[in-house]
Amino acid sequence: MLMNIVLLGPPGAGKGTVAKRLSERYSVTHISTGDVLRENIAEKTGLGLKAKEFVDSGMLVPDDVVTGMVKSRIDAASEGFLLDGYPRNVAQAKALKGLVEVDHVLNFSAPKKVVIERLSGRRTCRKCNAIYHVKYVPPKRDGVCDICGSGLYQRSDETPEVVIERLNVYMEETKPLVDFYRNEELLSDIDATQDIEKVVAQCIRVLGQGN
Ligand code: AP5
Repeated sequence: MLMNIVLLGPPGAGKGTVAKRLSERYSVTHISTGDVLRENIAEKTGLGLKAKEFVDSGMLVPDDVVTGMVKSRIDAASEGFLLDGYPRNVAQAKALKGLVEVDHVLNFSAPKKVVIERLSGRRTCRKCNAIYHVKYVPPKRDGVCDICGSGLYQRSDETPEVVIERLNVYMEETKPLVDFYRNEELLSDIDATQDIEKVVAQCIRVLGQGN
């Protein structure tokens, strides 16, 4: 079933965690702009060098850089896609509209206190990007990924100052997309404060059972 899905929501709301589950269930390509940027930064590619200072400070990477990166991945996603981290402002949403039709936008909502607690306990796999949490999703062995056995790390944009900046950027630039997509009649609200299984189940109720 071809389906093009966008996940919206503040940093730490659980978009990446749920995106992995939904992309498997619906057999669509998971496109995480944050993961792609971090991989490019780690490999010191031209794109990574351009993006590093923005990502490390919690600011948005310039629209043309991100939109070009997303376009090539959408073009390759013949079975549909799940966008996690894009669009992030109205200019990006308009650019996306010019590229492809979106079927569903899931708006993850969770208060500041919840997302700060989630971000402060997050651990990410260096190799496969699997996401853990020291309290809610602990790995079987401390500091080691259950899936690929690589080491876990804390992202460079998880310091308290950068988290505050990212939340501010979300409020100013990304939150207006809630109205943008509500007006387009594509938006469904998801209560992201629930436990992970319940959040996934709410998303499936919106998207349908799939094949
Ligand atoms: P990006 O990587 O997209 O970060 P983000 O949107 O800020 O979101 P996060 O990845 O921090 O959180 P998440 O919602 O995915 O939560 P997660 O599932 O990890 O972007 C990073 C940077 O890249 C940006 O600041 C910007 O510089 C740049 N960038 C990216 N896209 C861009 C764009 N389009 N334009 C310009 N710049 C761009 O979960 C968080 C934690 O909570 C985990 O530990 C998890 O285990 C836990 N958890 C998840 N769900 C639950 C739950 N229900 N209950 C308990 N714990 C939970």
